[in-house]
Amino acid sequence: MDVAITGAAGYFGQKIISLMEKDDFYNRIIGISRREWRHGFKKLEYHRMDVRSKDIKNIFEGVDAIIHLAFVVSPIHNQKEMYDIDINGTKNVIRAGAEAGVKKFVITSSTMVYGAWEDNPEWLKEEDETRGHPTYYYNKHKIMVEKIAKEMLGKELVILRPCLVVGQHVKHFYVDLLNMPFLPLVDGRNPRMQFVHEDDVARAYDIVLKKNAKGIFNIVGEGVIRWKELIEMAGKHAIKMPSWLIKSMLKIAWKLHATKFPPEIIDFVTYEWVASGEKAKHELGFIPQYSSKETVESYLNARQRNYF
Ligand SMILES: NC(=O)c1ccc[n+]([C@@H]2O[C@H](COP(=O)([O-])OP(=O)(O)OC[C@H]3O[C@@H](n4cnc5c(N)ncnc54)[C@H](OP(=O)(O)O)[C@@H]3O)[C@@H](O)[C@H]2O)c1
Repeated sequence: MDVAITGAAGYFGQKIISLMEKDDFYNRIIGISRREWRHGFKKLEYHRMDVRSKDIKNIFEGVDAIIHLAFVVSPIHNQKEMYDIDINGTKNVIRAGAEAGVKKFVITSSTMVYGAWEDNPEWLKEEDETRGHPTYYYNKHKIMVEKIAKEMLGKELVILRPCLVVGQHVKHFYVDLLNMPFLPLVDGRNPRMQFVHEDDVARAYDIVLKKNAKGIFNIVGEGVIRWKELIEMAGKHAIKMPSWLIKSMLKIAWKLHATKFPPEIIDFVTYEWVASGEKAKHELGFIPQYSSKETVESYLNARQRNYF
């Protein structure tokens, strides 16, 4: 199979390419992202290109499947740019791919689309409403991307919704939270949290391509870990704080460009947004090798060994 991957040089992209590099099922791998990237992958044909580029169609010629990862993952202040990359970039990738004759699309969403709400069920399922968050751009854009993909591709697509992905190579901004000297137990709450290991996520992409799957799947690690336990595992202090106080502090800091954490993320450590992995287990045979707790341990062990 010949596969194109947008956002190839990012965290997921590198994990997925590492897996495909060793597997004869994959013939050509075409990677796209903007940065200069000196990689060592033999099968990878890397293109420095923006997903909004008109030239992307040429790159998709002859490709069997597109894995769309490119997205603004770590929040930036330029909302117009975020929208343009997330929404117009996705439209361009799907349109160009379809025009080039690509038959299979794997769109990357997130369990964040369900939103963190006090009345969320214990285990959110794929058919549950995607309520997102009233102001957090990431969820809004992921929900829009899912809608656009469904409208443009009908039932012929796969949408993967991983929960927070962690592992020894993780670099995204959520784990930077764990580098803070103390962390809030917002309004004294101690929600269940969920993580999936980076190796398991890469396997999920492999499985949906090999099984020619269709549909929406939550991709999550087994079990959960409580927020307070996570804070303590990271060797940090948990401090009870009212939500109004921590949100006001972050709001000011965010406006002043003095933090990388927008105030909205506080809701995601206040309320639960835990998703069920049963559909992926039964329909795809996707069994995560790491539990949520083991996933966090793998990150913390790597951090201790000074991997980064
Ligand atoms: N990490 C998680 O916990 C998590 C959980 C659930 C879902 N997801 C989703 O999984 C996907 C991959 O996440 P990740 O953690 O691998 O993020 P990442 O490391 O930030 O990778 C994002 C990739 O997108 C590329 N990109 C961004 N804007 C682009 C543009 N305009 N044109 C071309 N490439 C562009 C980036 O490279 P350049 O900047 O060099 O272009 C980078 O390679 C995203 O869709 C994310 O929302 C992530």
